[in-house]
Amino acid sequence: MNIAIFASGRGTNFSAIARAIKKGKIKANLSLLICDNPKAKVIGKAKRLGIKVVLVNREDFSTKKDFETKIIEYLEKEKIDLIVLAGFMRLLSKDFVERFKDHILNIHPALLPSFKGTEGIKDAFEYGVKVTGVTVHFVDEKMDQGPIILQRVVKVKEDDTLESLEKKIHKVEHKIYPEAIRLFIEGRLKIEGRKVKIL
Ligand code: GAR
Repeated sequence: MNIAIFASGRGTNFSAIARAIKKGKIKANLSLLICDNPKAKVIGKAKRLGIKVVLVNREDFSTKKDFETKIIEYLEKEKIDLIVLAGFMRLLSKDFVERFKDHILNIHPALLPSFKGTEGIKDAFEYGVKVTGVTVHFVDEKMDQGPIILQRVVKVKEDDTLESLEKKIHKVEHKIYPEAIRLFIEGRLKIEGRKVKIL
């Protein structure tokens, strides 16, 4: 199976997934990084590992449809079976999601459906929650929605700062995202309505 990772930023999840593939924990090829941000650190990380990088800058396209059509061209060329969103800070259109139905995963740094959006860790911390966590889910056309595959709880201690909480969340992300991808690749995820059964 061929995987494409979509990312916009640092790429620590990208690295964790690439590591799991290299170690043979996930039996798949990491064929492509699709990045929409020319300044993203993830680009260097992929290049150092010899993984093909495609930079698609939304500003270079007049419409979202054109932007996504270009991405689809690359995905088809590389015969991609699974799309993994790892900090890709852009909402995919309904058409795009339909095109790859049930073959797009996302990770979110909170316990969905709480604290959706781009600042999940900060929003949960500032809200004063005692527990937060990480969610991996299938993607539908709404932001941070779609059937949940795995969730892990992270406790917020009284002496936690935003920075210490971020560290704990990322550590959990780097464990459960490769785990969820492995389950997908092994054909062990069965979607039944909103629920995902792990076989
Ligand atoms: C991760 O914490 C991921 O959960 C989050 O972006 C970060 C990317 O970090 N995604 C979202 O907030 C999606 N709504 P990374 O570039 O170091 O992997």
